[in-house]
Amino acid sequence: MAVNAIDVDPYTSLSDEDCEARILAAKEKLGERLVILGHHYQRDEVFRHADFSGDSLKLSRQAADSKAEYIVFCGVHFMAEVADILSRPDQISILPDLSAGCSMADMANLAKVERAWQELSQVLDPDQQVTPVTYINSAADLKAFCGRHGGIVCTSTNARHVLEWSFSRREKVLFFPDQHLGRNTGYNMDIPLEDMVVWDFDLPMGGLTKQQILDAKMILWKGFCSVHQMFDVSHIERFKEKYPDAKIISHPEASFEVCQASDFVGSTEYIIRTVHDSEAGTRWLVGTELNLVNRLHDECKAEGKSVHFMSPTVCMCSTMFRIDPQHLLWVLENLVEGNPVNRISVPVEEAAMARSALQRMLDISP
Ligand code: 13P
Ligand code: SF4
Repeated sequence: MAVNAIDVDPYTSLSDEDCEARILAAKEKLGERLVILGHHYQRDEVFRHADFSGDSLKLSRQAADSKAEYIVFCGVHFMAEVADILSRPDQISILPDLSAGCSMADMANLAKVERAWQELSQVLDPDQQVTPVTYINSAADLKAFCGRHGGIVCTSTNARHVLEWSFSRREKVLFFPDQHLGRNTGYNMDIPLEDMVVWDFDLPMGGLTKQQILDAKMILWKGFCSVHQMFDVSHIERFKEKYPDAKIISHPEASFEVCQASDFVGSTEYIIRTVHDSEAGTRWLVGTELNLVNRLHDECKAEGKSVHFMSPTVCMCSTMFRIDPQHLLWVLENLVEGNPVNRISVPVEEAAMARSALQRMLDISP
């Protein structure tokens, strides 16, 4: 924390209403020196203050293009890291609450990925035969690993383009940390399920035989999103019984079975666009995070559409939820005083390697 920074404690007892006017006042004072980026999973009280909203790809581009001195990222840790990596060295990336991580990103770490690479080298020559692909939901050191080993980053929007690029260079892909995005995308590219094996990072050789590794086209890290794994085909079946004409739309972090039972699959931005673009009277069942679905429901009511959440239980991303108006206000009022708190700063060499893997992704993305 910067010297003389204002302490967070008094902010935690403020009501959301108290925060609202003060956030607006701080934004006004900071003017063009500040940009607030907000992911679609953010709660309304925070989301409404975002200058730009979007999915991971769109927000990465916003961060790369921004001229603002301060980039306050209302999202999770890996997003603020990407903002730091893609912005100029004199820009400052800030995450209002440092505990806003991503449980899926935490399922892969550098030690385990390096061990996997080393174990694969007992069977084949990974630097010649395997492209490492990391989902953007991962720590900066894993993006740097991909940069060092001729690999690349992907998001839910461009995973197919990234896999096509990867297979045009090397015969296999090691995909981490989300097995579902890897499997759903690979299957849509006509890769049979039996050619996609799961690497169990807790087992020697990922729990695979030498032959399984040699035969595989994609090696999928055994990671998943705890929010999207709550969705089940039985939810879709029950809904379809009640509303046979309903349309089903899901995020590709949902399971293979859920995505196969869906009419549309895509990123958060794609989901919002597709539902908005549908005809009046359309009924939707949506398999992604609750804050997004609730907002879409409210927006679409006026358009004569009904939007339903896929799971009977509450599936909020609890780490996205940690960004609250109180923390947003705290970082903004500190910025007004010239104290950047909660800065996210990726070490220079790691950032350079991670940037090369991110840049490859940006160069080939539609
Ligand atoms: P999007 O890039 O589709 O917004 O997804 C980010 C994410 O974390 C979904 O869980
Ligand atoms: Fe991570 Fe899942 Fe939350 Fe997305 S919804 S940020 S993948 S935990």
